[in-house]
Amino acid sequence: MKKTVILGAAWGDEGKGRIVHSFSKSYDWVVRFSGGANAGHTIWRDGVKYVHNLLPSFDWRVSGLRCYLGNGMVIDLEQLYIEVEKLYKVGGVELCSRVYVDLEAFIVECRHKEIDKEKNKWVGSTNRGIGPAYMSKVGREGVRVYNVEDSEVVKKLKLMGVKFVYLMEVLEEIERSSVIFEGAQGVMLDLGCGIYPYVSNGMSTVAGVYENGFHFKLDEVYGVGKCYTTKVGSGSFPSEIFGDEMERIRERGGEYGATTGRARRIGWIDLAAMKYACRRGGINKLILTKFDILAGMDKVKICVDYKGGVRGVNSFVDAECIYKEVRGWGEDVEGYKEFIEEVEKVVGVRVEYISNGIGEENLIKV
Ligand code: IMP
Repeated sequence: MKKTVILGAAWGDEGKGRIVHSFSKSYDWVVRFSGGANAGHTIWRDGVKYVHNLLPSFDWRVSGLRCYLGNGMVIDLEQLYIEVEKLYKVGGVELCSRVYVDLEAFIVECRHKEIDKEKNKWVGSTNRGIGPAYMSKVGREGVRVYNVEDSEVVKKLKLMGVKFVYLMEVLEEIERSSVIFEGAQGVMLDLGCGIYPYVSNGMSTVAGVYENGFHFKLDEVYGVGKCYTTKVGSGSFPSEIFGDEMERIRERGGEYGATTGRARRIGWIDLAAMKYACRRGGINKLILTKFDILAGMDKVKICVDYKGGVRGVNSFVDAECIYKEVRGWGEDVEGYKEFIEEVEKVVGVRVEYISNGIGEENLIKV
């Protein structure tokens, strides 16, 4: 049974949620394996916009499709309650009983969010308590979901149908099923190989799947990236652009954080970073999104490398981009060809899908 991983091939916000949602129709499970409510996965369903912070981006209209919040996550149970309550209104106990929470995940405590507000402004934290919760985990003072199984919030979630399980109880069944492992953030924000210290604290590479205990043979690891780049929070962003052009792309692309509403920084596509993300993240197929946002430009800029190249993670600090220009495009898929060929040539990974709009029909196999 197919095991697919979908990761962010940049600094997060690449549109993974929408891709996972589309793909999920032909799978049995969608598993989130890292991060917490710092993620904001935007999904359009029947013309209505949904933002999932903790819930995996599963298409709940598909009967039998289940989702799993893995033990590598840090879970704010009150936030989970808010999201599950919305599900409950749509589909009652039947729908909520397709949500599984790993009892070994760690929880985000109120104090973690306070620490973010007091101490983590400099990194541009989403203030969802993610870093401090992971620090508690590493410091051997964390609280796991099983420690609070008798709490009011867990009782309420159970009443709505949510299942709290140990991985050992479901592992064989998940192994026999088709699964999408949904990454959070992007490889460039990974604690280990992202642009430290301007990173999040979870695992955004394929290693996160294994860290949760899913030791399966994986069939494919997709990396999702936009045809330009965005970033929220602080830290080096070599292909960043400023001024009118930046404003135009930000407005057309609706580039405001799904979790915090913050305006995202905008840059040209950065293939030096994408190549690094593919190598370090374990990505072997690419999906590029938002071609409609750059439509109408005569030329599109591509960062193909940095002066001095990329040796390691510190190469991203004060990097100077080497740019190449390719022909722009209109609405026609043929127009994207030169751009896609350049991406494949530089990154060395095939682009399998592109998207040029939010509709299902806009996700196109190339
Ligand atoms: P934290 O994980 O909320 O503490 O944020 C740490 C850094 O990662 C900040 O620069 C955030 O803006 C960034 N970050 C965290 N989650 C996301 C995400 O889902 N998308 C994009 N950036 C994120």
